Amino acid sequence: MRVLLTGGTGFIGSHTAVELLAANHDVFICDNLCNSSRETLTAIESITGRRPVFFESDIRDARAMRGILGDNGIEAVIHFAGLKAVGESCVKPLAYYDNNVSGTVTLLEAMQATGCRTLIFSSSSTVYGTPQKLPLTEDHPVGGVTNPYGRTKLIIEKILADLCAADAEFSAVCLRYFNPIGAHPSGLIGENPNGIPNNLLPYVARVAAGVLKEVNVFGDDYPTPDGTGVRDYIHVMDLARGHALALQYAAGRSGWDAINLGTGKGYSVLEIIRAFEKACGHPVAYRIAPRRAGDIAANWADPSKAQRLLGWRAERGLEDMCATAWNFQQRLLSGK
Ligand code: NAD
Ligand code: UD1
Repeated sequence: MRVLLTGGTGFIGSHTAVELLAANHDVFICDNLCNSSRETLTAIESITGRRPVFFESDIRDARAMRGILGDNGIEAVIHFAGLKAVGESCVKPLAYYDNNVSGTVTLLEAMQATGCRTLIFSSSSTVYGTPQKLPLTEDHPVGGVTNPYGRTKLIIEKILADLCAADAEFSAVCLRYFNPIGAHPSGLIGENPNGIPNNLLPYVARVAAGVLKEVNVFGDDYPTPDGTGVRDYIHVMDLARGHALALQYAAGRSGWDAINLGTGKGYSVLEIIRAFEKACGHPVAYRIAPRRAGDIAANWADPSKAQRLLGWRAERGLEDMCATAWNFQQRLLSGK
């Protein structure tokens, strides 16, 4: 299939590009490089032997999007492009609504204009807000989101549902990711956020590498077994495979759907630190810090819908997630 990956040079997009190329799809990437770099294309080529066709372009550029979709006969879009820093979204909400929501509307208009009617969207478990029950199933109520970033995901899901209701041929699958971590086993692609990481894993990796002093564990008084926050960490390679399967699923149907991509198992912050210590072979310094505003105590997925509809289940465990994240971190430091 001829597939466009918006945001395809980013963390999840680049791993998905590798997976799709390996499955013999024709991969096109459009990214404005606001949070990634062209070097990722060379890394993808080194891994797969094929280089995606790349457009340095913004999804808010209507003309460019029509051109990319129309000129290349794109049959389906996997829509990763978006801003994702929760804290920044509270400071610059309009930038988030403009980039994520307006950008998606522009993309969808271009898809309609060029007759492309299959979309996979990068949603998030954040749409569930504070869980009323665990594990989270897709029919758990959405809403109660605590920040503008999360609201953009919720709004986009609703826009896609409205579009599918209006256009009987449109197919939209919202993949609700839990906490993606880890890296490709080659260490050539992975997660490398600019500045001080917001998310736990890249922060732990930098402490382990001696770049940052210690991990701040945000709260040890949650109602969880060891008092620290519990999340469903999922290997980015498993997530990438989920996209390839979701693409097949979406292409053969019409209508709106939402599917969790998680492992079904939660780990605490302290368990993650311990697992990373094993992977890197030395202690990782941490201190207990106050809770972070907007955090929930625990969430993990019920991934049975993905198994039922896509034939997908996570295969890689926490050990592999930490080992590949550490491998990537070391390659970054060595500059190779
Ligand atoms: P990322 O920042 O590594 O990748 C996003 C890519 O989109 C970047 O390469 C960036 O340059 C590009 N981009 C942003 N705005 C753009 C625009 N207007 N036009 C073109 N390109 C643009 O992030 P990621 O972790 O790979 O996340 C991919 C998607 O998955 C995002 O939508 C994110 O919100 C969502 N998501 C991520 C997580 C996570 O933990 N990483 C969890 C849930 C959902
Ligand atoms: C966060 C976002 C979520 C987003 C996801 C992926 C918030 C409230 N939620 O999820 O919307 O979809 O990232 O981008 O920001 N932790 C520490 N120390 C740290 C960092 C994190 O103790 O330095 C803890 C957190 O309190 C949490 C766990 O580690 O218990 C995971 O945090 P993080 O990686 O930021 O992911 P989420 O908060 O689940």
